[in-house]
Amino acid sequence: MSMKLPRGTQDILPGNSEKWQYIEENLKDLCNRYNYKEIRTPLFEHTELFQRGVGDTTDIVQKEMYTFEDRGGRSLTLRPEGTASVVRSFVENKLFGLPNQPTKLFYIGPMFRYERPQQGRTRQFVQFGIEALGSADPGVDAEVLALAMSAYQEFGLKSLKLVINSLGDTESRESHRQALVNHFDPHREELCADCQVRLDKNPLRVLDCKKDRNHPAMATAPSILEHLNEYSRNYFEQVKANLDTMGINYVVDKNLVRGLDYYNHTAFEIMSDAEGFGAITTLSGGGRYNGLVEEIGGPETPGIGFALSIERLLMALEAEGIELPLDDALDCYFIAIGEEAEKQALKLTYELRKSGIQVDKDYMQRKMKAQFKAADRYNAKYVLILGENELAEQKINVKNMDTGDQVQIAFENITEHMKKELAGGE
Ligand code: HAM
Repeated sequence: MSMKLPRGTQDILPGNSEKWQYIEENLKDLCNRYNYKEIRTPLFEHTELFQRGVGDTTDIVQKEMYTFEDRGGRSLTLRPEGTASVVRSFVENKLFGLPNQPTKLFYIGPMFRYERPQQGRTRQFVQFGIEALGSADPGVDAEVLALAMSAYQEFGLKSLKLVINSLGDTESRESHRQALVNHFDPHREELCADCQVRLDKNPLRVLDCKKDRNHPAMATAPSILEHLNEYSRNYFEQVKANLDTMGINYVVDKNLVRGLDYYNHTAFEIMSDAEGFGAITTLSGGGRYNGLVEEIGGPETPGIGFALSIERLLMALEAEGIELPLDDALDCYFIAIGEEAEKQALKLTYELRKSGIQVDKDYMQRKMKAQFKAADRYNAKYVLILGENELAEQKINVKNMDTGDQVQIAFENITEHMKKELAGGE
């Protein structure tokens, strides 16, 4: 039997995992600057949470969930996204009662969707997302959009397009919904089977259909923007004005509807404009979801957030030819020749590591020359050499691999010496 990884998943190996770490660290730093705190929720939840939260009529709930029964007969689902879980936790832990509002949270972790795998679409992917709960101030919308754009710009990405729309409040949506039904009903038979169901359950989703994208009725469909009531229209104007004030460019796309049910008011996606990016150009998406907290059993609380996948962020970096500034050099490589020197090396590497210095050594009984080659492969900044002569003098030969300079340092001074060298060399 051959053991292969499951379709739509990947191993992230050394050489590549450093990129992930770099990105994750920088995204955490970005959140810190915006005062978003990390939340970690379970990888699986009760299935009902996503049915209620993400919405029964969405592709995610209908076709893409990894749902299973546990040994106690409960229906559980691997989380397909983060928002429903964050809202569940917000309600369950009564975070709405804390004095600091809005509650600003971020998460990074794997999500699972049973999709047809292709470039930029996998069955396990890592989402970075933020959620701001508790404020209906359009300033929060602008903050979330700003952070979302920065999440790409900080890595040097330039070919970005921010697309926004308003889905309005309940009243506006109801009026739009009726207009959509009136518009598409005469064409019902010409639409795909899914859309015929959507027309009754959630007509907005018809606008997002990939199969019926070119149906002539799509181009003339009523836009939500024509159905916004005064509050919704004003809200959208304020969000746009905030973006203008901050100098953040955007385009309005009245057909942007998003694939999850909980959205209202601000909805947005960030796309890559880079040549050769591939078929899927959406890098991330999000929006406002006032009402979701009540749906999950909490008090009336507005919310807004977004999520991106690190897989697509990496694709965008590749498409724009951006190399991350990774420091893959090893601080020190310890070369010991002879049994007694080997013993000392064990002791000294242990001490160096305890004092915070990165050190590696040979465990393959290599000869001196081969150990130097290993140091080269690790891109070592310093090589610490302990041969017979050095051992007799209780000293280590420290070679700076950049300059070729060598100095002899007594055993007891090596830690302090290396600390100074490494601090000065940076
Ligand atoms: P979403 O649009 O379903 O929204 O996903 C957000 C992002 O996750 C996408 O733009 C994409 O970067 C990434 N993504 C989704 N599916 C896959 C996949 N199969 N493979 C790779 N990347 C994928 C949400 O999930 C919402 N929870 C976002 C949100 C947060 N809205 C408000 N708060």
